[in-house]
Amino acid sequence: MKIAIAGSVATDHLMTYPGRFTDSLVVGSLDTISLSFLVDDLVVRRGGCAANICFGLGSVGLEPLLVAAVGSDWSDYQAWLERHRVNTAAVKVSTERHTARFLCTTDQDLNQIASFYSGAMCEARDIEIGAVAQQFGGLDLVLIGPDDPDAMLHHTDACRSLGIAFAADPSQQMARMDGDQIRLLIDGAAYFFTNEYERALTTQKTGWTDEEVLARVGVRITTHGARGAVIERNGNRPVSVGVPKEKAKVDPTGVGDAFRSGFLAGLAWGLSDERCGQLGAMLATYVIETQGTQEYRINAEEFLERFKIAYGTTAAVEVAEHLICIY
Ligand SMILES: Nc1ncnc2c1ncn2[C@@H]1O[C@H](COP(=O)(O)OP(=O)(O)OP(=O)(O)O)[C@@H](O)[C@H]1O
Ligand SMILES: [Mg+2]
Repeated sequence: MKIAIAGSVATDHLMTYPGRFTDSLVVGSLDTISLSFLVDDLVVRRGGCAANICFGLGSVGLEPLLVAAVGSDWSDYQAWLERHRVNTAAVKVSTERHTARFLCTTDQDLNQIASFYSGAMCEARDIEIGAVAQQFGGLDLVLIGPDDPDAMLHHTDACRSLGIAFAADPSQQMARMDGDQIRLLIDGAAYFFTNEYERALTTQKTGWTDEEVLARVGVRITTHGARGAVIERNGNRPVSVGVPKEKAKVDPTGVGDAFRSGFLAGLAWGLSDERCGQLGAMLATYVIETQGTQEYRINAEEFLERFKIAYGTTAAVEVAEHLICIY
């Protein structure tokens, strides 16, 4: 199964300021504010939803195709993804803009001052899914994740008109899109992913009821944080999956993306909805246990053992036939 993942690629630059921002704010002079904080620590993390999802798919043995726009500064990131089996041949490299970047400084009270530079992401709208499909001998599924809003609409439209199955995953970009745009993103999707909150936002913004949304997509997957996920198909009973026990809760960033990786891996392996959801929850657990979104390492033996404990022997045997790990 040839899966393409369209969406953002970004790096997060996270700094820590040992003092308090508020100690440097002079009431009465804020109209001429000019501040520079000497920070202690800088951590650079690879992120972006499409890159995170591709990393997860590569980590269990698939070879996803990344569809994104980046800057020429991305060569290290590219090498990293390629080492994790991600095909980067369809990535557009901008000649003018840098890769999207999130810059965030946190002070000792955990107050934050941040900027997000979307950079090359705006050029994702120039990528043609039709041309990508032709270049790679067809695509079986395209996931359209958070990205430049015009790119999301453009890719969805391309999939619909070319008859390529797509998974709608607008996630955080739903906040800034209106009902008309959201309707266009999800109508006719083979799969529709949201968390609980985004599911409510969907009905509120589109004016469609939950039933109407489900009637317009093939499968709806709703994640419920620590309570797992529910998978629904029109006319079938909903399938619920729980979460495996985590070793520690270190950092929840990236759980949503990892869930999608696991779910799509299950699809590519031809497994049931329940198994796909369980794979999603298992990968999300790996992310929770590590700092960052692409720092987890999967060892096949350990993965299968944990999967067996969480979901039983039959489930683990089904997955064992397909799982290939780098580590
Ligand atoms: N606290 C938790 N403990 C165990 N598993 C969790 C927890 N939070 C999330 N998960 C797993 O991750 C999946 C996705 O979580 P969630 O519904 O929070 O996604 P999200 O809100 O889209 O997250 P993100 O912040 O990455 O966008 C869940 O279905 C579950 O499998
Ligand atoms: Mg999310």
